[in-house]
Amino acid sequence: MQAEISGTEEAIWTAEGTKKRQAVQGMFAEIAPSYDRINSLISLSLHHRWRRFAVSTLQLSEGMSALDVCCGTGDFMIPLRMAVGKSGHVFGVDFCLPMLQVAQTKNQESISLGDACSLPIGSNQFDAVSVGWGIRNVPDIDQAHREAYRVLKPGGRFASLDMARPRNTILRFCSELICLKLVPKLGALFGKATAYTYLPKSTLRFLTREQLSASMESAGFENVRHKDLLLGNICIHYAQKPGGRLS
Ligand SMILES: C[S@@+](CC[C@H](N)C(=O)[O-])C[C@H]1O[C@@H](n2cnc3c(N)ncnc32)[C@H](O)[C@@H]1O
Repeated sequence: MQAEISGTEEAIWTAEGTKKRQAVQGMFAEIAPSYDRINSLISLSLHHRWRRFAVSTLQLSEGMSALDVCCGTGDFMIPLRMAVGKSGHVFGVDFCLPMLQVAQTKNQESISLGDACSLPIGSNQFDAVSVGWGIRNVPDIDQAHREAYRVLKPGGRFASLDMARPRNTILRFCSELICLKLVPKLGALFGKATAYTYLPKSTLRFLTREQLSASMESAGFENVRHKDLLLGNICIHYAQKPGGRLS
């Protein structure tokens, strides 16, 4: 069941636990029909390229299996499918039904309702786990990293793409001006001003690159790395579960 977003984005900031989860679910339910169009507009369609880059860090090959957590409308599953080929397996999980319904219209893959902090999946199942712009929204990032680690096979790889704050002060000032002023206006064109006010602001409250790396390391990942994209406005974190890669 999806919760309604209640009034302002303040409802999402102030809620905790289950209420926070429902507020985020409700927000994504509301923007699901226009999510892809607004995403392409805001990113000038570069989001496809960033996902392909993230998938390249997973070092997938024909016949392997990949899980996309917080799969939303399913755009990450497309390059994952290309990487694992027809004999591979791609699975998507998200907790927002309207987002999954859009994903179903463009993917032949297995898709399931589920929470990133409590994945409905057994341990040691996948060669790779990806998350695109999802970690920022989960109520417990450490737990989401532990879950990604748990479902990976030994040697499996993890990649998470998300927003970041440029390190350079001038770049940061300019990009935050654009994100905080322009993005809500673009969202408003589609009648989604609340969500597109919350989403850029959530980047300001998000963990730093170093904090995210530390969270991944404490979940058990090794070789944790990150790489900035779009002048540091996007950052991909990637890592490996220790052990030999089995497929
Ligand atoms: C910004 S969208 C990103 C969608 C997709 N990964 C992409 O690359 O476009 C974030 C998605 O994360 C999902 N999400 C947020 N918190 C979640 C959680 N705790 N468990 C599962 N999905 C979650 C939302 O429902 C939404 O579909």
